[in-house]
Amino acid sequence: MQRPHQPDDDLPPASPDDRNGPDDRSGPDDRIELVVLFGGQSAEHDVSCTTAAHVLRAADPARYRITPIGIDREGRWQLAAEAQAALAEGPHALPGRLDPSGAPVDPTAVVHAATTGVAEAGPRPTVVMPLLHGPMGEDGTVQGLLELAGVPYVGSGVLGSSVAMDKAMAKQVLAANGVAQARWRAFREHELTPGLPAQLADELGLPLFVKPANMGSSVGVSKAKTVEQVRDAIHVALAYDEWVVVEEAITGREIEVAVLGNLEPRASVPGEIVPGAEFYDYADKYLDDGSQAIIPATLSPEATEEVRRLAVEIFRALRCEGLARVDFFYEDGPGGRGFLCNEVNTIPGFTPISMYPKLWIATGVSYPELIDELVRLALERHARRRRNTQR
Ligand SMILES: Nc1ncnc2c1ncn2[C@@H]1O[C@H](COP(=O)(O)OP(=O)(O)O)[C@@H](O)[C@H]1O
Ligand SMILES: [Mg+2]
Repeated sequence: MQRPHQPDDDLPPASPDDRNGPDDRSGPDDRIELVVLFGGQSAEHDVSCTTAAHVLRAADPARYRITPIGIDREGRWQLAAEAQAALAEGPHALPGRLDPSGAPVDPTAVVHAATTGVAEAGPRPTVVMPLLHGPMGEDGTVQGLLELAGVPYVGSGVLGSSVAMDKAMAKQVLAANGVAQARWRAFREHELTPGLPAQLADELGLPLFVKPANMGSSVGVSKAKTVEQVRDAIHVALAYDEWVVVEEAITGREIEVAVLGNLEPRASVPGEIVPGAEFYDYADKYLDDGSQAIIPATLSPEATEEVRRLAVEIFRALRCEGLARVDFFYEDGPGGRGFLCNEVNTIPGFTPISMYPKLWIATGVSYPELIDELVRLALERHARRRRNTQR
C-alpha cells in the first residue's frame, strides 16, 4: 500500500532529542509520560504511522515526555528507537521503518517498560495514546491490554471500541436505540449460500454496498451494481472478516461530526465530504486530492443542530469515551429520510488535515489543545473508573 498523501511534507524536522531530553526548567520534571502507540497489523498501518508522526511533533514538549511504541506489520511491539530516528526525518519517514527483523516483543512487557521505566524523576502520570486504526488497535484488543496494565489511555474503553469497530454489531445497537440508518443485512461466512447475493439484491435493491464488518479506511468496501458484482464483493469483504455487512446504496451527502468528551461529550460543527471518486474509497481518502472537505457543512441551522445532537446521542449509545467521529448520510429534500448514521470511528484519522482535527479547529480547538484535552480526558476516565471499581 502506498504511503498516505499529505500536503505538509515541508514541516520542519523535529529532533526527537529536543522533545525528550531533560527539559531546561529547573526543579523536578513533572511532565506527563505520553506513550504513543502506532503502526499495527491492520491494513491501516501506514495511516497510523503518519498520524503518529504528526502527534509526536505537535505535543507540547514542556508538558509531555514522549515514548513511541511501534507495532510492525507482523504484530511485534518495539520501544521504537527507530521511530525516534525516523521522526527527525519528516512525517513520512515512519512507514516502513519498523524493522520486522527486530526481536519479537511481548506487548505486556513493552507497555510495562514504557509506563514504569521512567521513574528516575519520580512517579508522574502516564497516558497511552493508541493511534491504531482498524482491527487489533481500534477494536478493543489493545484497550483490554491497557486495562490489564492499569494505565490510563486515550479514547473509548474495550466495549465502546469493539462495538463501534464492528459495523454489524454497531448497527444492531443503533437500531435498538432508534437511530436511523440505511437498510442493511449482516451475515457470517458460513451463511453464504449460492442464492444469497440475488436475495440481498431483491431485498435491498441494487446498487448495494458490501463491507467487511471489522475494517476501516474503505478497505474491502465495494459498490455492487449487479448480482454478479454482489457475489464478487462478498468474496472481497470475506478476505478481511468473517462477518459481512450489505447495505442499500444511499444517495445523499456525507456529513461528519467530531465528538469529544467523557460524561458530557461535545459535538463539533459538522463537515461535509465531497468524494472525488464514485465513493469515498481508500485512494480518495489518502492518496488523491480528489475528495473535498467543506467545513462547516452548508446545512440549515436546524439541520446543524440536529446532526450535532444525533452525534452525541450515538456516541453515548455506543459507550464511546474521549473521542469519536460520527459519520452520516444526509438525504435532504422531499421524501428524504434526513440523517442516517453510517458509522462511528473511535480512533479517527488524526493528522492535521484529517477531518476530526479540522472539525475541532473550525469549532475553536487547536491541534495541540486537542491533544491536551484527550490526555486530560484519559486521566479523568481512569480516575473515575478506579473510584467506581474499588472494593
Ligand atoms: N450505504 C451506502 N450508501 C452510499 N455510499 C456508501 C454506503 N456505505 C458506504 N458508502 C461509501 O463508502 C465509503 C466507505 O464506507 P464506510 O462504511 O464509511 O467504511 P469505512 O469504515 O471503511 O470508512 C463511505 O464514506 C461512502 O462514500
Ligand atoms: Mg467511513
